[in-house]
Amino acid sequence: MTSAARAGGAAQNADVRRYQMYIDGQFIDAAGGETFEVFDPSTEGVIATCPAGGAEDVDHAVRAAQRAFYDDGWRGVSAQDRGRILFRLAERIRARRSEFAELETLNSGKPIVESEYDMDDAATCYEYYGGLATKINGEVLPVPADAIALALREPVGVAGQIIPWNYPLLMAAWKIAPALAAGCTAVIKPAEQTPLSLLELAREFEAAGLPPGVVNVVTGDGPGAGAPLVAHRGVRKIAFTGSAEVGKLIMRSAADQLKRVSLELGGKSPNIFFSDADFENAVDGALFGTFVNQGEVCSAGSRVLVQRDIYRKFIDAAAAKARTIRLGPGLDRDTRMGPLVSAEQRDRVAGYLRIGRSEAKLAAGGGVPAQFDKGWYVEPTIFYDVDNSATIAQEEIFGPVMSVIPFTDEADAIRIANATPYGLAAAVWTRDIFKAFRVVKALEAGIVWVNHMQPTFVEAPWGGYKASGFGRELGHWGVEEYLETKQVFINLDEKPIGWY
Ligand code: NAI
Ligand code: MG
Repeated sequence: MTSAARAGGAAQNADVRRYQMYIDGQFIDAAGGETFEVFDPSTEGVIATCPAGGAEDVDHAVRAAQRAFYDDGWRGVSAQDRGRILFRLAERIRARRSEFAELETLNSGKPIVESEYDMDDAATCYEYYGGLATKINGEVLPVPADAIALALREPVGVAGQIIPWNYPLLMAAWKIAPALAAGCTAVIKPAEQTPLSLLELAREFEAAGLPPGVVNVVTGDGPGAGAPLVAHRGVRKIAFTGSAEVGKLIMRSAADQLKRVSLELGGKSPNIFFSDADFENAVDGALFGTFVNQGEVCSAGSRVLVQRDIYRKFIDAAAAKARTIRLGPGLDRDTRMGPLVSAEQRDRVAGYLRIGRSEAKLAAGGGVPAQFDKGWYVEPTIFYDVDNSATIAQEEIFGPVMSVIPFTDEADAIRIANATPYGLAAAVWTRDIFKAFRVVKALEAGIVWVNHMQPTFVEAPWGGYKASGFGRELGHWGVEEYLETKQVFINLDEKPIGWY
C-alpha cells in the first residue's frame, strides 16, 4: 500500500482514475483516507488509485450486508426477483462487453481476446444462477411417524468473498452469482492488483435492482482488508480463491468461530500425453494448458507428462512452437501472451526460472524477454527431464513455465500424476477410450479433461481434491455452499407422545 500522499501525487495525472469502493449503495473512500495504486502491467504505469480499506471499512460493509439481509428484507425478496436481478447484471456486462474487456486487460495484462471470453463467461454465470434461483427447493421426507418431515433450504446469511487477480470479473461472478441466487448478501474483496473491473460493475448494481448493502465491494490488500473480513463475527461463510498459504490462514482464522469456508487453492496439474494421442493436438494442448492467461491459471497443466516413445519429438515440437508465441501488450489483438500481473509475480516466477535451471534442462525461454523495456513479461518457458520431486514440479509457479516429465507406461503416468500435494485438475490425451477412462478414474483431481485442457462451463462443478481445497463452485454445487438445510417436523398425531 502506498501512502495517501503518494497516491494524491499520482492522481494529479489526468490519466490516473480515482476509484472508490462500494458499501451500502454508496461509492466511498476508506475510513482512514488511504489509497493504493493500480498498474498497467504492460507499461508499469499507474492507471488508478483505490481506497485501501481496513477493519473499519470491512465492519461498515458487513453491517450493511447484515442490515440488508435481516432488516431490509432481502430475505423476503422472491427467488424470481433475485433471478431477474442476476439476469440484469448479465445484460449490463454484455452491453458493456468491450469496455469491460479493455479495462480487464489494461489492469491484468491478459490478451484482449481472453478478456472478451471472460466477460462472456461472467455474463453467462449470472444468467445461469439467475435461472437457478427459482430451482432451489427443499424436500419432503418419507418419515415413519404420523408426521411430515421437510428439508428447507435457507441462505447462510452474509457471505465474505475473497478473490484473486487472474480472472478478476469472472472470479467475482463465480462468487456473487451463487450467493445472490441462494438469497445471501455479500461483502467481496477483489485482489489489490486488479480491483477495477468489479468496481466498474458495481456502478451497475443499483440499475440492476440490487438494494443497498446486498453486494458490497471493499478494496484493499489481504492483511488489511481480507483478514478482518474473515475474522468478522457478522460473516457466516467465507469463500476464497487464491494461494494455499493464505487458504491455511483463512481456515485457522475461521476456526475460531467455526465459520463455514470453501477454498479453491490452485494446483500443479498433470497434463498426460500417451504416444497414441494425436500429435499436433497434443503439442497445442500442452502449450495451451500451461501458457493460456500467461500461465496465471489455478488449473494450469504445468506438469506435462509425456510417454517415452514420443518424448524427444514432443519436446522439440513444443519448444519450436513456444518460441513463436507472440508476447505483447494485451490490448494488441495479435498478442497471444501478455505480461504477468505485477512486478511481484514476475519476480516470483523469475525465481522459479533460476531454480529450474539448476534442477532441469531448458528447451525454450527461461528468462525475461529482451524486446521490452517496460512491462512484467516472462518468456514462455519449457523445462524438460524434470524429476517429479523437483521444486518446479511440486510448487505452483503461476506463470508461463512448463515442466516436462517422461513416463514409461500407464501405471507410471498415474503414479507421477498423483504425486503432488495438490489435486485440482488433470488431463489425459490418448485415442484409446479404455485407457482414457482407466486414467480418469485413477487421478486424484476435481476436474479431468480428456483430449483437451482448460475449458470449463458454468453448468459443471469446479474445485479441488487434496491441498487444492474443498467445496465446489459452479453448477448446482456452487449454490450449496451458500445454503443451510433446515429440518422441519410437523406432527400430525393429536396425541403424539403418551409416554409419561
Ligand atoms: P494471495 O493468496 O495472497 O491473494 C489472493 C487473495 O487473497 C487476494 O484478494 C488477497 O488480497 C487476499 N489475501 C492475501 N492475504 C490474505 C489474508 N491474510 N487474509 C485474507 N485475504 C488475504 O495470492 P498472491 O500473493 O497474489 O499470489 C501468490 C500465489 O498464490 C501465486 O503465485 C499463485 O501460486 C497462488 N494463487 C492462486 C490462485 C488461484 O486461482 N488458485 C489465484 C492467485 C494466486
Ligand atoms: Mg499473497
